[in-house]
Amino acid sequence: GYTAEPFVPERGGLTALRRAAVECRGCPLHRSATQTVFGAGDTNARVMLVGEQPGDQEDRQGKPFVGPAGHLLDRALEEAGIDPSEAYVTNAVKHFKFTRAEPRKRRIHKAPTLREMTACGPWLAAELAVVEPELIVVLGATAGKALLGSSFRVTQVRGTVLEEEIHGRAERLVPTVHPSSVLRADDREAAYRGLVSDLEVAARTLS
Ligand code: URA
Ligand code: SF4
Repeated sequence: GYTAEPFVPERGGLTALRRAAVECRGCPLHRSATQTVFGAGDTNARVMLVGEQPGDQEDRQGKPFVGPAGHLLDRALEEAGIDPSEAYVTNAVKHFKFTRAEPRKRRIHKAPTLREMTACGPWLAAELAVVEPELIVVLGATAGKALLGSSFRVTQVRGTVLEEEIHGRAERLVPTVHPSSVLRADDREAAYRGLVSDLEVAARTLS
């Protein structure tokens, strides 16, 4: 099956991981994407935010959450009392997956499959092992399934503190919706308030 495993270095910190991830060929997603979008932030970050996969802007710029969803996320984090610059931000899948309605037209985000999420898992496991966050904020269903298994349902556990063993380590997690889902919601204001309120649970857990 597809796996990033042979590409993940056994030693070295985030710098070594980030450098190695550039060359990952663990699944077919690297073929059409521009570049690997590895996690960003400090090794000593207390909180790790896990999204789905890079979007169009992230794929171009090579950094996670720098597009519209990222701007909304930063605003919500600040409102909840979490300094975005002190968080480590990453994705369950490190390459942008997309389709085009027509050649040379806009690239439309496509959800990664379970196989692709599983293939990319060793990078997330390595990030967790190096950063050792006190808390993981799970952004949406894909991140939830990647970390907690396919039975994960965001609506059932959002805004609660979970304690689970992940890749052999005891982790505390607060799940919430994906910031992109706020941008697509009919009632954006209500969806945004819901995101902030879940992030406030995370902020209280950290303080
Ligand atoms: N959505 C994600 O899940 N991750 C990003 O980095 C950007 C948008
Ligand atoms: Fe490697 Fe993950 Fe990219 Fe697949 S999506 S090529 S496993 S970094």
